[in-house]
Amino acid sequence: MTRAIFPGSFDPITNGHLDLIERALKMFDEVVVAVLNNAAKTPLFSIEERLDFIRKTIPSDRVVVANFEGLLVDFARECDATVIVRGLRAVSDFEYELQMAMMNRKLAPNLETVFLMPKTVYSYLSSRMVKEVARLGGDVACLIPELVHQALKAKFGTTSS
Ligand code: PNS
Repeated sequence: MTRAIFPGSFDPITNGHLDLIERALKMFDEVVVAVLNNAAKTPLFSIEERLDFIRKTIPSDRVVVANFEGLLVDFARECDATVIVRGLRAVSDFEYELQMAMMNRKLAPNLETVFLMPKTVYSYLSSRMVKEVARLGGDVACLIPELVHQALKAKFGTTSS
C-alpha cells in the first residue's frame, strides 16, 4: 500500500490539478491532497473553501483531502505518505521544484518526490492566472471545476458563461 501526498496552495483547484491527481491515482493506492494553510499568504479563497472545492470535486475514496501548516515533510510523516507528487508544466517550473525536492530530501531522506506532467492543454494553466483572467472578466470555465467557476463568478461577478 503506497500513499502519496500532493501538496499545494490550491487557491483554487484547477483542471490541471485534477489531471495530476488522476495520474497519481494510477500509480499510488491513496493520494492525500494537502492544502497549505499559510497565514503569511493572503489567498483569494479561505482554507475551508479550498478544502470544500476539492472534496466536492473528487469523489474517490482513495483521495483524502486535508490542510496542513508547517513543514510538508512533517505532515507527510504524520500521514504515512512515502511519496510527494508535484506537477511539472514547463521548464520554468523546474528550478523551483528541484530546489524544493532537494530541500525535502535533505529533511526527510526516505520521502521521494516524483514529478508528473499534466495534459498539454493544461501546461500553461495556473491558479494565479485563472484568478487574474476571471477578475478581468475572461472566460475560464473550461479550465476549472464548475463549482469553482461559480465561486469565482460570485467573487468577481464578471466571468462569462
Ligand atoms: O501550490 P504551491 O503554492 O506551488 O505549493 C507550494 C507548497 C505548498 C508545496 C510548498 O510551499 C510547501 O511545501 N510549503 C510548506 C512549507 C515547507 O515544507 N517548506 C519547505 C519546502 S522546500
